[in-house]
Amino acid sequence: MVQFSKRVPADGTDAVGAILAAAADPSVISFAGGLPAPELFPVAEMKKAVDTVFDEHGREAMQYGASRGVTELRELITKRVKEREGIDSKVENVMVTTGSEQVLDLVGKAFIDEGDEVLVEDPTYLCALDVYRSYGAKFVSVPQDDQGLRVDALEEALKNHPKAKLLYTVSNFQNPTGKTMPVDRRKKVAELAAKYDVMVLEDNPYGDIRFEGEHVPAIKAFDTTDHVLYMSTFSKILAPGFRLGWVLGDPKVIDKLTVLKQSTDLHTDQLAQWAVVEFFAQNDINKHVDQISALYGKRKDLMIEGMKKYFPEGVKYTNPEGGMFLWVKVPGVTDTVELFKKCLKEKVAFVPGDPFFAGKPEPGTFRLNYSNMQEDKIEEGLKRLGKALSDAVNENK
Ligand SMILES: Cc1ncc(COP(=O)(O)O)c(C=O)c1O
Repeated sequence: MVQFSKRVPADGTDAVGAILAAAADPSVISFAGGLPAPELFPVAEMKKAVDTVFDEHGREAMQYGASRGVTELRELITKRVKEREGIDSKVENVMVTTGSEQVLDLVGKAFIDEGDEVLVEDPTYLCALDVYRSYGAKFVSVPQDDQGLRVDALEEALKNHPKAKLLYTVSNFQNPTGKTMPVDRRKKVAELAAKYDVMVLEDNPYGDIRFEGEHVPAIKAFDTTDHVLYMSTFSKILAPGFRLGWVLGDPKVIDKLTVLKQSTDLHTDQLAQWAVVEFFAQNDINKHVDQISALYGKRKDLMIEGMKKYFPEGVKYTNPEGGMFLWVKVPGVTDTVELFKKCLKEKVAFVPGDPFFAGKPEPGTFRLNYSNMQEDKIEEGLKRLGKALSDAVNENK
């Protein structure tokens, strides 16, 4: 008999995998995925950047490299986080990772022993839940309101769970809700982390993709006591296929994460790292990010228009100022997976809310993605979804 470790999920527990597979039917209009718009990948510019890398750093790009990452890329990251997020850092604060997903895993390895408590805003990024679950974490669920993580509830949780090891939070355009934490809460999170001596992992893959409102500095920008680890990625502003992310924090912590990375994959792809350095030298990244934000903003507006037009009364949804997702709540629905099946019959799909919750799932909630949805399909998709939701709401009356 094959004897897997405790970390391996039991058969049939990959609910999201099953949903994405069902939604992959080409006749289904799927708001379920979470992909960036491929039409905006800068293919020609990247080809030119890669050519330059082969001309100028070919042997370095093909050789083994440092576990921390290419110095030039780490320098570029420190410059960018200062400009965009108000974070002061030096190159020794930064480690490049194989996607920011790897940061989730390395932080789990570094901080979580079986039974350790991890605070999460509920709902949250389901892969983070999967990773920390695999390290044996016990989740402490902290509720959100319209502005994301509730800091009053966070303080309560910290008082009640003095041994909690980590708070994981997605501060901008959260996956799955699209919510953004306002600046006063960010300051408070940094303050509470110091007061209760808990490590915060601030995950910010979407912060650059803002199409409305004012930019808010990272929680990390208010961290004067080295309690915040900040992570981000090139996946949403350049290309997820490159698998390039990073983590920024106290060099003492970064050193430990580096040791753990060595035993995972030695280092991140050298060619991808050099290609991004060269892309930044040859192109205006902010102009590219503006194009992405404009397209996603247009798609989000079409979503809001369509939901207003087709959703039955009483259905609530977030209206994000950036990012790739919004969050819907259908009152009266108790079984969201059943609702998903009904929608699939109407040839439209979403990701049910349940797997995003560490605590008790809120029934009738689901996530919709718009970044990878062609404009001409949005209205038809929402029309189908509206019909399925109206049927469900009527059945529950
Ligand atoms: C909140 C959040 N964190 C981390 C990631 C991982 O991204 P990547 O590994 O591509 O950097 C994602 C991907 O969608 C995400 O939504």
